[in-house]
Amino acid sequence: MSISSRVVHSFVKSCRTSSAVLFSAFILCCVCAYIFGSQLVTPSKRVHDENAAILKDSVRVNSYPSYGIHGEEVVTKSPSRDDQQVYSWNVSTLTVQDNDSDIIVGANTNKTCYLAREYTTQNGENRTLLVPRSLSELEKMGCKKRLPGVLTVGVKKCGTGALRFFMNSHPQVMFGVDVEAHYFDRNYDKNIEWYIQKMPYTTQDQISTEKTPFYFVSADVPRRIFEDISPDVKIIMVMCDPVNRAISDFVQVSEVLKSSDMKRIAIVSPMYRLKATFEDNVIKPDGTINVHTPLIDVGLYIKHIRRWLEYFSLRQILVIDGEELKKEPYMELKKIENFLNLSPHFTKDHFYFDTEKGFFCLRLPMRECLPEGKGRHHPKINETVLLKLRKFFKPYDQELEFLLNRTFLWSKV
Ligand code: A3P
Repeated sequence: MSISSRVVHSFVKSCRTSSAVLFSAFILCCVCAYIFGSQLVTPSKRVHDENAAILKDSVRVNSYPSYGIHGEEVVTKSPSRDDQQVYSWNVSTLTVQDNDSDIIVGANTNKTCYLAREYTTQNGENRTLLVPRSLSELEKMGCKKRLPGVLTVGVKKCGTGALRFFMNSHPQVMFGVDVEAHYFDRNYDKNIEWYIQKMPYTTQDQISTEKTPFYFVSADVPRRIFEDISPDVKIIMVMCDPVNRAISDFVQVSEVLKSSDMKRIAIVSPMYRLKATFEDNVIKPDGTINVHTPLIDVGLYIKHIRRWLEYFSLRQILVIDGEELKKEPYMELKKIENFLNLSPHFTKDHFYFDTEKGFFCLRLPMRECLPEGKGRHHPKINETVLLKLRKFFKPYDQELEFLLNRTFLWSKV
């Protein structure tokens, strides 16, 4: 054998050997990735037990960003943000509330800056994750995190979740990862960069938005929004029958307080120390209305909206009738499209009335209702108390109608 052919022969041999080594290493890596990867999919108990270490290696995501805090899920994540193709879609349910991920769960529409990923939960439910595109693609497509162009500021228990849920299915509307950012009330000690990071990636044609119903009743919030976002920002308020609202609020807070999860209790204002029955909360022992309970105070819409009007004009504020939203969401969504100058997207076919749920749900892009926490059963309330409350709210509602030059469905009752 000539020297040259010997060199070629030993080269081929060594290539074979190194290919075999490489191949074995690859197989070994796959086995390790499988073993350790599956451990990153953390059952909720383990996350509580072993906490930070596991969460660091995982991406935390809200499971229902469109409509309320209902636990979170963990998705195992590849080491590099740019390498999104190798995300593992195994997900387990958690109860952790913090969130620092850009992944959006439960959003079922295609949004330009995100890639939709279908996955099946451990309960066998099909879901969609929206994963931001790679950083280079985001840049190429002009996708950025921007301050909101519109904010839904309340009113709590008037259908803000439904509004978010429906609005979010418009291709030009993009809500952030957090269900409620609470920047201008609870998190104002953080800086505006923190808030921007909570926003979704949007193109120039899309509108970035968030909803935090506590903004409506928080004293400094209108000024802060005016100064920190823009004097031209648009504001959406959903208002509903203040008596129904109070009952709904009572039912929700009672349920939250039943939970043993201290975090949930901590997010409830100390003013929400509830007595056992709705009646005892809203009527004082002397028979007068307890105006100090938020169950009542939040429903004094005229009082709160006046604070907003010190900074924003009525042209910038869209007030949605929550009772109309329940009855015919399509019409209200059309008003929103108009108000935000969005391209027409919603048709009647996007919605259907779900007889089991008792509310409208989305038919398109896929059939989906709001979760159990929205549309709760209300207890029967003493008729005399109801009459007293209606009489109490009447003058406030009339003043509101006069100011807005319109009649609300609930005030006709
Ligand atoms: P209840 O759960 O007391 O019935 P918010 O999202 O602001 O907390 O408001 C919750 C309320 O939204 C619910 O109160 C429900 O009445 C109302 N709602 C309006 N449209 C809805 C829908 N399509 N599905 C579920 N709830 C809806």
